[in-house]
Amino acid sequence: MKVFLETYGCQMNVRDSELLGGILRQEGCRLVDTPEAADVILLNTCSVREHAEQRVMGRVRQLSSLKKTHTVKIGILGCVAQHLGENLLDSLPEVDFIAGPDSYRSLPELLCSVDGERTALCRLDKTELYEGLPSYRPENSPSAFVTIMRGCDRMCTFCVVPLTRGRERSRPWQNIVDETKQLVQQGAKEVTLLGQTVNAYRNDDVSFAQLLWKVAETGIPRIRFTSPHPIYFQDEELEAIAECPGVCEWVHMPLQAGNTEVLARMRRGYSREDYLEIARRIRERIPRVTLTTDIVVGFPGETEVQFEDTLSLMKECDFDAGYHFKYSPRPGTYASRHFPDDVPQEEKQRRLEQVILLQSELTRRSNEAMIGHSFEILIHDRGKRGPDQWVGRSRGNKMVVVESNKSLLGNIIGVTIVGTGRWTLRGQLG
Ligand code: SAH
Ligand code: F3S
Repeated sequence: MKVFLETYGCQMNVRDSELLGGILRQEGCRLVDTPEAADVILLNTCSVREHAEQRVMGRVRQLSSLKKTHTVKIGILGCVAQHLGENLLDSLPEVDFIAGPDSYRSLPELLCSVDGERTALCRLDKTELYEGLPSYRPENSPSAFVTIMRGCDRMCTFCVVPLTRGRERSRPWQNIVDETKQLVQQGAKEVTLLGQTVNAYRNDDVSFAQLLWKVAETGIPRIRFTSPHPIYFQDEELEAIAECPGVCEWVHMPLQAGNTEVLARMRRGYSREDYLEIARRIRERIPRVTLTTDIVVGFPGETEVQFEDTLSLMKECDFDAGYHFKYSPRPGTYASRHFPDDVPQEEKQRRLEQVILLQSELTRRSNEAMIGHSFEILIHDRGKRGPDQWVGRSRGNKMVVVESNKSLLGNIIGVTIVGTGRWTLRGQLG
């Protein structure tokens, strides 16, 4: 059986697709590069914003034209499957089966489903951690994702993730260490530990900070993690980032909004002052840290004055980069049930543009401050403009392009920053 697997959304989905690839290959399936070549098309989907969900709908309608000329099954996996459940089968007659994020062990049975029999597997399972399964990772990539926890218990009022990925659960630390050891043997130079609130990790009395030290003992040169939640940061984590040579000096700490009242209605669990204090401690304890964030504009009831608090907090924290979103009401969340989506679309757009403009200014300054300094870069890809170009990331997760007529792929090299572009830095070897 030939399977085409397409992935949308966050890194967690990317990692889940590696597991799906492993399960499929174990079943004797072959992964193919185009939907036209496939017997089964699988979309691993995202429902965090309405736009992401609509993209999937559009893609299914487009792919369903293949059904006119081929015998091909279409399956929807991931968060959209979990969020819409059987309604998805009603609204998209072209879809043959759906499976939520906790149902992937049943994928082989779904593939064998009889024509016309449409199945929906959408039960959340608070113990599923996908231990002991093979995975299929891209070859030659020096970086790998390692899931350390699944689900989320925070219930931020805007967020659909707790509904689609279920209760928070941490993987046994020993399995995380073993997986990293294996990756080291396969040549990996960097792991990114994944979870919705990674610093809430706990297994067998091992905290997130202790996990960082244990993963570092495997000898992997670089460790990253995403995303920590501001309220769980303890001094021992900051110490691990500052002191443990393997742990990169990069903290992606979602802010969402800079006004305490908005944060309370988002049910984030911290005030503006709390966030500022944590950011101050991070910058103080980890001198070369890159601090990045997520921001949502136009949350229900957000006034102009409250929005300006987000801008001023961005300046105070001097974020190095960020992801910025317009609030999108998600059916089933507390906010969508209780707070009218009352910030007009044009106003959300205007606020988004202001946030992006301010961040690009902050990013430009933070990039320019790197000029003339030396950094360690892990090269993960070829550059797009010419055969001698190589792209890598600094420990602080800044993208750097260097020129070399020898392949640098997978190497950690020293570069001096000589210039900056809009998103990337230019480096010179040595
Ligand atoms: N675990 C992360 C968030 C995961 S969702 C955390 O600690 O906060 C990724 C990002 O999507 C969030 O940080 C938020 O900025 C954004 N997001 C989530 N729900 C959203 C919604 N309904 N509308 C707009 N953006 C949203
Ligand atoms: Fe979502 Fe909040 Fe968890 S943003 S993933 S509910 S920490």
